[in-house]
Amino acid sequence: MLQINDVHAGYGNLKILRGVNMQVPTGGIVTLLGGNGTGKSTLLKAVSGLIPLMEGEVLFDGVSISKMKPHERMRLGLVQVTQAKEAYPAMTVEENLVLGAYTRRDRAGILADLERVYEFFPVLRERRKQLSGTLSGGEVQMLVIGRGLMAKPKMLMLDEPSAALAPKVVLEIFANINRIAKTGVTILVVEQNVRMALILAQYGYIIRDGVIMIEGEAKKLISDPAVKESFLGGSVANTAKALRN
Ligand SMILES: Nc1ncnc2c1ncn2[C@@H]1O[C@H](COP(=O)(O)OP(=O)(O)O)[C@@H](O)[C@H]1O
Ligand SMILES: [Mg+2]
Repeated sequence: MLQINDVHAGYGNLKILRGVNMQVPTGGIVTLLGGNGTGKSTLLKAVSGLIPLMEGEVLFDGVSISKMKPHERMRLGLVQVTQAKEAYPAMTVEENLVLGAYTRRDRAGILADLERVYEFFPVLRERRKQLSGTLSGGEVQMLVIGRGLMAKPKMLMLDEPSAALAPKVVLEIFANINRIAKTGVTILVVEQNVRMALILAQYGYIIRDGVIMIEGEAKKLISDPAVKESFLGGSVANTAKALRN
């Protein structure tokens, strides 16, 4: 469904991604793992069109989308869920959800999908008139995923849905992602929670310094010593960096 071919991208003259190759087949869940600052969010931005490619190509359902605007990609069904803090706190839960459907004109379909989101996340229905700024971290995460569903995705890209959440809430969010995948929405999930993501996904990629280091079936990666080592290496380097700042 999604094919990322030799993608180079970054900010201004600063190159972050240096030739990324990835594939996400239709159906199921693929995860992209990597430590802080390794280029995960940058890759999602390049795929959803928020930053331009320097080199390479992105195909969606066999069509090159590299030059399309973000809303055009959304209309094709390629939808990125941004990090949870990007819900609008001064809008109600329902207003935030409806905002997710801004590229659509089918009013009946939008209302049906709102109902579907409330079935996935009953707590959002309970809180639909409440300002998003009053939600818990887990509820905000459900809200941004729900907002993504309102765009009627064929493929949903999630950026660290487990970030800053308690382990019990992470489990709940991941169970929901699994249920969404079972309805036929293909999922690409970026994570730092390696263990959980590899349990959830069928296939995984590990990025470091802007290139894919390791890829494989999630079942195999989870027991791969190189996977553990690469993450430990990353976190030690990051800690050392943080201490120097
Ligand atoms: N808007 C930006 N302008 C310049 N550099 C950025 C910007 N966003 C991210 N970066 C840099 O790009 C690198 C990768 O960032 P990012 O893709 O957000 O990493 P990750 O999501 O894996 O934590 C980091 O070094 C970060 O500082
Ligand atoms: Mg990120």
